[in-house]
Amino acid sequence: MTQNIKKRIFSGVQPSGNLHIGNFLGAIKQWVDLQDEYDSVFSVVDYHAITVKYDPNVLKKKIIEIAKIYIAGGINSERVIIFQQSDVRAHTELCWILNAVSARISDLNKMTQFKDKAGLGNVNVGVGLYDYPVLMAADILLYNTDIVPVGDDQLQHVELARDLAKRFNHDYEKIFKIPEAKIIKQGARIMGLDNPEKKMSKSAKSDLSRIGLLDKPRLAMKKIMKATTDIGAEIKFCPKEKPGISNLLTIYSLLGNIEIKKLEKKYTNKMYGEFKKDLAEIVAEFLNNFQKKYNKTDDKQITEILTAGAKKAEPIAEETLLKVKRAIGLK
Ligand code: AMP
Ligand code: TRP
Repeated sequence: MTQNIKKRIFSGVQPSGNLHIGNFLGAIKQWVDLQDEYDSVFSVVDYHAITVKYDPNVLKKKIIEIAKIYIAGGINSERVIIFQQSDVRAHTELCWILNAVSARISDLNKMTQFKDKAGLGNVNVGVGLYDYPVLMAADILLYNTDIVPVGDDQLQHVELARDLAKRFNHDYEKIFKIPEAKIIKQGARIMGLDNPEKKMSKSAKSDLSRIGLLDKPRLAMKKIMKATTDIGAEIKFCPKEKPGISNLLTIYSLLGNIEIKKLEKKYTNKMYGEFKKDLAEIVAEFLNNFQKKYNKTDDKQITEILTAGAKKAEPIAEETLLKVKRAIGLK
């Protein structure tokens, strides 16, 4: 009889900034949908968060906040592993090894997120920001990951993880599984509410650009009402011609569980104002439910979940690391 071994997914979010509905719809909602089908490992990737300027006291709180958001979002902590990246030392160890034996400057020079974050010609950023994708590769490869569910901005990083794994396997020994990115068809790139040409981000200057998962529902409703729409009154999904309304349709469809086609029908000959009012209600209801669960979980419980998660993650990561150390001649 063949044993039914589940494939593994691994993903993570940085404990920085304020998580928004883009993070939820692009990443966490996918994890929730996949958690039963896959053996799931989700990390709070704190070592990634320290690659840009941050406040240590805020970071401490954010680590707990992110884990709480995973749970309020629907991750089942009894069945999946949730852990803090820095609790498992193998991540930075494998990162160093990959830096030395597999990653090339030419790989990292291609990374668009680094270029965006560092700015052109800026040499005053930390080396960690440059090396960030190699740490991410280590995260993924330590767990024999099959699938990495992320928003589409992370695709290039997952591709690097694949390249490093293949190079290592070729140069030393076939140890790493080659992971695949899983990008959802709808919601992989939620755009800013004030500027639908730019993705919704934690770091955009205007708070009106995003709906935070912990925003007061009333404030979120106001943000929806203020969201930029497009020329022409038609409520139609067409990201090129109507980026604003298409983005709002995507959010409505995902949070309200209604197909975009049905929404287009429902709002034929209706005004933007009416559509936005309904969407504002949907968003407020989502936030209310989410925040109720968020507020129910206490910090102590979260610390226990993270400690238990690290205990489960560590042996998996250590086993891979030991194989790697043997293959490269350290053991
Ligand atoms: P980060 O905020 O960079 O830690 O991202 C956490 C996860 O959210 C990653 O999987 C991202 O790809 C995803 N993500 C971030 N912003 C968006 C967005 N605007 N739309 C969809 N997914 C996003
Ligand atoms: N770089 C990812 C982001 O900003 C976070 C991350 C770190 C990650 N390590 C990972 C995502 C491993 C998936 C798998 O969103």
